[in-house]
Amino acid sequence: MIEQLQNVYALHTDRTTYCFAVTAQGFLQHLHYGRRIDLSAGAAPLLPQEHHAPGNAAVMEGAFLETLLQETSSPGLGDLRESQVAVRMADGDTLTDFRFEHADILQEKPALSGLPSAYDESGRAETLRVSLLEKKGRLRLTLFYTVFEDCDVISRRAELTNLMDQSVTVLRLMSNQVDFDRQDLVMTSFNGAWAREFEPTHTPCGAGVVVSESRCGVSSNRANPFVMLHAPCATEEHGDCYGFHLIYSGDHRACACGNAYGALRFLHGIQPDGFSWLLEGGETFAAPEAAMTWGDGFAAMSRGLHRFVREHIVRGEWKRRERPVLVNSWESLYFRFNHHALVKLAGQGKHLGAELFVLDDGWFGKRDSDTCSLGDWTTVHKKKLPRGLAGLARDINALGMLFGLWVEPEMVSEDSDLFRAHPEWILGRRDQAVGRNQYVLDMGRREAQEHLIEALSRVFAAANISYVKWDMNRIITDDYSAALPPERQGESRHRYVLGLYHVLDELTKRFPHILFEACASGGNRTDLGMLSYMPQVWLSDNTDALCRCRIQYHASFGYPQSVMGAHVSGSPNHQTLRRTPVSGRFHVAAMGLLGYECDLRELSHDEKLQVASQIEFYKQHRAALQFGDLHRLQGGEGGIWQMSCVSKDREEAVTLLFQQENRPNAGAVRLRARGLERECAYRISVLPVKVALKDFGGLVNMISPVHIRQDSLMQTIAEKVIAPKSESEDMTATGDLLMTCGAYVKQSFSGTGWDAETRVMGDSGSRLYILKKQ
Ligand code: GLA
Repeated sequence: MIEQLQNVYALHTDRTTYCFAVTAQGFLQHLHYGRRIDLSAGAAPLLPQEHHAPGNAAVMEGAFLETLLQETSSPGLGDLRESQVAVRMADGDTLTDFRFEHADILQEKPALSGLPSAYDESGRAETLRVSLLEKKGRLRLTLFYTVFEDCDVISRRAELTNLMDQSVTVLRLMSNQVDFDRQDLVMTSFNGAWAREFEPTHTPCGAGVVVSESRCGVSSNRANPFVMLHAPCATEEHGDCYGFHLIYSGDHRACACGNAYGALRFLHGIQPDGFSWLLEGGETFAAPEAAMTWGDGFAAMSRGLHRFVREHIVRGEWKRRERPVLVNSWESLYFRFNHHALVKLAGQGKHLGAELFVLDDGWFGKRDSDTCSLGDWTTVHKKKLPRGLAGLARDINALGMLFGLWVEPEMVSEDSDLFRAHPEWILGRRDQAVGRNQYVLDMGRREAQEHLIEALSRVFAAANISYVKWDMNRIITDDYSAALPPERQGESRHRYVLGLYHVLDELTKRFPHILFEACASGGNRTDLGMLSYMPQVWLSDNTDALCRCRIQYHASFGYPQSVMGAHVSGSPNHQTLRRTPVSGRFHVAAMGLLGYECDLRELSHDEKLQVASQIEFYKQHRAALQFGDLHRLQGGEGGIWQMSCVSKDREEAVTLLFQQENRPNAGAVRLRARGLERECAYRISVLPVKVALKDFGGLVNMISPVHIRQDSLMQTIAEKVIAPKSESEDMTATGDLLMTCGAYVKQSFSGTGWDAETRVMGDSGSRLYILKKQ
């Protein structure tokens, strides 16, 4: 709900309030963002009663902009902080003084053309549109605030219109600005690298500047655009927690800059360094949309954001549809496959219960390695696929499976027909540093966009394709565009992103039935921009259970599990060489959108049985695992991780318990719970796993009548005959008890005793517990 109380505008969601006032001078003074407040008896106490300028400060018509909490800002006028807006006039002047013009409350969300944005199907989202006129009448700044009450999210964006005949240069237009009257907040950003995405970095804010940003052309694994500002001692349950998203897939910057008066300005938007945009007379430049929420504790913050992503970002036919269990060819076959091998792998997948077969890289041009053919999408690799994609899709469909395909359209290999025909279509000079032997197509070029739309439309229509994995495997380092004049070179990176969105918009409209998954060397482009076109992302190339557990756990602060592709891959793992039993790999992958990327043909008979029952289990609980509420229960304290998916009707929960290392006598472990119905009873069981006899090493000789040597035939035979079962669990308790105290699970093996009810998990060991309402 948006209300106007004289000169105060208040935006209320179910649990939050955001409000600001228009000052006598026409500045927008920020008053509050956080827990919902009742303003019915006035807002006066929210206004600082400061009438004398601090010594050594600049005064603007009685206002001290260096200290004033503001809704927007531009350089000068006494404000020394980084600003939301910066414009250079044709004569070099950068002073722009924006004052309130008018505001209106719209019962809808105005469209944002050319950029993805949040949407609202319920028709309940209201928007506050505020326009500010530059004092000399040269520019108009329009701020949009949309309120998504059901998920406690407010989205913000800004537009700048040039009201003159002559052009101006936009040096920055950040999407969001929130001024806090406190500096005791911590910024948590999610940083990393390839195969090490979403590592949280906690930086205390203060009078200086804290920055999290991407400069590699994509939203990036170096620094995800999602960041949080929170009270230093905030926990899952309590404390001020602000979550900030940017609906954008290119370079971005989130910064919290403090001033000398205890205030902190949060800015979020396109990375301004190197950016500029020539705005001709009469034109408008629109910044991408940003979204923010407040929660009392991280759990409440994430709950709002998860709902926002599920309801207001992800769209199309697959929005609410359960996602198929897939088999992906990459880590089992890499570039070495043929029609027969693919059908065999798919057949094995079908036999074990998988529903979708995805042919990854290597199917086009003469692509036998990553050195060639990117760009030649309409030429199938005839040697590998003599019956073409259509023939392969037919055979996969005949097995009763859907067929999916990998593409990497924004890239071009030097050794490709596309590059030979259009060497000028690359971004950057030819002698640039290349990543994975490839160049980036200049997506800002209209001809490149149209070419891709037509080429990919031909590919997607040539066979019965139900799923597409859209990859992007190098970062953008060189951004010179041969298509742009010198004064517009600062636009090339943003034009790239706009071009990409145009292509995605067109293709997703032409092929609405296709389930798209965004991938960029794994999680190099996990953001709400991509999720506006593609309902899911391949979160990381790292499928090692331990690493993945951490990655998924941390990603869940900003993203729901319904967007996280998660696969069971081979062991030893291809990224870490760590060995993890197939059960553990499944337990972690089950907390996301399940797929298999290991060579199913090479699994032992026993492993195949395990995989078949995993898939059966996943399908039984799929609604909860994919679309239920995800709760973080333990984040690595004592080396233990716990996450739980609770079904919407709270009838059941599936909880992952993952232990990094087996620490003897580390104390009893409690299974934790959240999101259950307090007064109802839940019965706890554990998904049985196979315990390998050989994991006990020489200890088996303490009970074996004959001596069993390690790695001997005898051990193999004993392994087959004596198959120790894992421990069982059978407890019933109220949701209240479980959420308040948790439930002790069976004792972990600690070297001094074993019986059939000992929990043997080892390093990177795990269990899935099922809580069923009685
Ligand atoms: C990237 C992706 C992988 C795989 C390869 C294929 O690395 O992240 O999943 O698709 O490309 O080349």
